[in-house]
Amino acid sequence: MKKYNNKISASVMCSDLLNLEKDIRTLENLGVDMLHIDVMDAHFVPNLTFGPDFIKAMQAHTHLPVDCHFMVTEPDLMYSKLQMRKGDIFTVHAEVDRDYRYMADPLHASGALFGIAINPDTPVEAVERHLPYTDLVLLMTVYPGFAGSKLVEGIMEKVGQMRSFLDERGYQDIEISVDGSVSNERANYMASLGASVFVCGTASLYRKGMSLEETVPEFRQAITL
Ligand code: DX5
Ligand code: ZN
Repeated sequence: MKKYNNKISASVMCSDLLNLEKDIRTLENLGVDMLHIDVMDAHFVPNLTFGPDFIKAMQAHTHLPVDCHFMVTEPDLMYSKLQMRKGDIFTVHAEVDRDYRYMADPLHASGALFGIAINPDTPVEAVERHLPYTDLVLLMTVYPGFAGSKLVEGIMEKVGQMRSFLDERGYQDIEISVDGSVSNERANYMASLGASVFVCGTASLYRKGMSLEETVPEFRQAITL
């Protein structure tokens, strides 16, 4: 198993949205690796969040990569409106049935990364057809749609399954991201199974009564194996 740098992707939907700029500056200063932006369309998931204009505004206001997670049935609507920068991530779902190479190739040409996500009930095999053009596999560890959801029982073992699935097929370079109810302890365990990008929301960075100045270094410690 290859050793990756473990990275923190702070969930923007869990931030104080009316004071977002303040949170972004704090996250930058605390050395968070990227900003996770959950795009939801009220069809693929029962919630509605941010759109392409919001992502563009974020790109203009921070040097941190944006880790965009499109929980949408029409990813082309997003793709056609956005210009990803070097290091940005564009992640779509495998449950939306299509060949994504036409998106992945131009993303790579700009130095951006292509990600493929699966929901908790989708088997690891669903990513196989996308692997030749994929940089990251995102595993949903909760049913998608809302912050603060409950971890799906037994889901953490899927990280180890996915890692073996990728490694056996020669894709040691593809990283695994985990998204949903990723607490410090769970992150530590999933890092040991091969995850290297951790989406951090209410279970880790945005905890009641704790500041980012307290939670970010604690989480960093938890993923430093
Ligand atoms: C869930 C979202 C997550 C969520 C993670 O659909 O994708 O980004 O905000 O945060 P918590 O820790 O609240 O589950
Ligand atoms: Zn997400």
